Order: sequence, then structure tokens, then C-alpha cells
Amino acid sequence: MAFNIAIDGPAGAGKSTIAKRVAKELSFIYVDTGAMYRAMALYFLRAGIAPEDEAGITESCKEITVTLSSEGGEQQVFLNGENVNAFIRTEEVGKMTSAVSVYAPVREKLTQLQREMAAKTNLIMDGRDIGTCVLPEAQVKIYLTASVETRGRRRYLELREKGTECSLDEICRDIEKRDHQDMTREISPLKQAEDAILVDSSEMGIEEVVERILNIVKEKLV
Ligand code: DC
Repeated sequence: MAFNIAIDGPAGAGKSTIAKRVAKELSFIYVDTGAMYRAMALYFLRAGIAPEDEAGITESCKEITVTLSSEGGEQQVFLNGENVNAFIRTEEVGKMTSAVSVYAPVREKLTQLQREMAAKTNLIMDGRDIGTCVLPEAQVKIYLTASVETRGRRRYLELREKGTECSLDEICRDIEKRDHQDMTREISPLKQAEDAILVDSSEMGIEEVVERILNIVKEKLV
């Protein structure tokens, strides 16, 4: 049976950085499920479908195929055969993703694919509903969080480093809005699974969080 690690938590808690590092240490595959939702959102944006248009979104789900591959340890996401990694990290796509990930047909499509991958391979998968819905039997579940201020500051520094003008207040407001949307949606809202271990990274460095998770995994592996 494959060994599965689920990491859930809000945007900006450091899930992907941490999960990538843990995957490398354990030689597990890393699956970023947010990227899969982002690829679907990109499709709807390109097709000019509004986030409120549930019927249009439901209909278009039939035309969408999302696949993943790994190149040099980096996950690549394909939308109907096109590698869309370069297009899915914008704020516009992020907002659209949070808005359209509330719909059942969007979630069902990706949940099924995620379960198929997890059944076959040892992997670490990050997202919002992995421990609660996608992989309820995962051997290790982590709920990784950090305060809004910490997450906002990290995002602010990241954007500044890229030369993007931004306001810390606005970033914090966006984060709160995204949290609210992800935590209060009807289907598979973001929440800590009962058997998940809470890790608050507000006062922790990356190395410390990676060590902590590796220790939790090692206890389960022996
Ligand atoms: O992790 P991320 O920021 O790339 O995710 C973008 C959005 O996708 C997030 O706001 C909610 C949605 N998402 C989801 O609903 N379920 C997941 N398993 C992963 C992401």
C-alpha cells in the first residue's frame, strides 16, 4: 500500500515549499493540488466564463483534462495537453481559482485524479481538503498554518523581490478574504481533519518545519 502524507492549510502558510522539501528527503512524489485547481480556473478565464456562471462551468468541465508530470523534481501541470505552469501563478488566476473551486463538478474531477495518483505512489499532497476529503486514510496528516500577518509579510516580501509594487494592508485583506472563501464554502471547506497534527509556522523557519514533519513521518514509518 502506498504511503500518503496530506498537508492542508490556508494560502501562504508555506505548504508547497515545505512539502517539496519533505518529498525530496523521503524520495516521495510531491503533488500540488492547488496548481490543478489553478489550471481549471485558467481554462474558465480564457474561455471568458464568469465565476458566477455555474452552468457554464459545469458544462466546460467536460472539455477539460488536467494532467501532471514531474521535470527535475518540479511539478508540471498540463491543461488539455498544454504546459500551463507559467500562467497559473498570477493574482487574477488565484482569485478565480478560489471562486470556482466551490463547484462540485470542478472538485469531483480533480479529487478522482488525486485519489488515483495516491493509490499508486508514495506521495505528499498539499491542498485544502486532502486530509478531510481526498485522502481520509492518509498515514500522516498535517494542518500547516500561520497568522495572517506572517503570511501577508511573506507574500509582500516575495512580491517586492520580484519588483512588484504592493501594499501590505491590501495583501493581508486579500488573504483574509481568500481564507474566508476557502473555509466557508459548502463542499470540502478548508478545515483541520480531526486526526491531523497542527503545525503553526508563524514563529518557525522552513528547516524547523521540515524537521518536525520528517520526525512525524519517521515515527509512522517504523
Ligand atoms: O494552494 P493554492 O493557493 O495554489 O490554491 C489556490 C486555490 O485553489 C485556493 O484558494 C483554493 C483552491 N484549492 C482547493 O479548493 N482545494 C485544494 N485541494 C487546493 C486548492
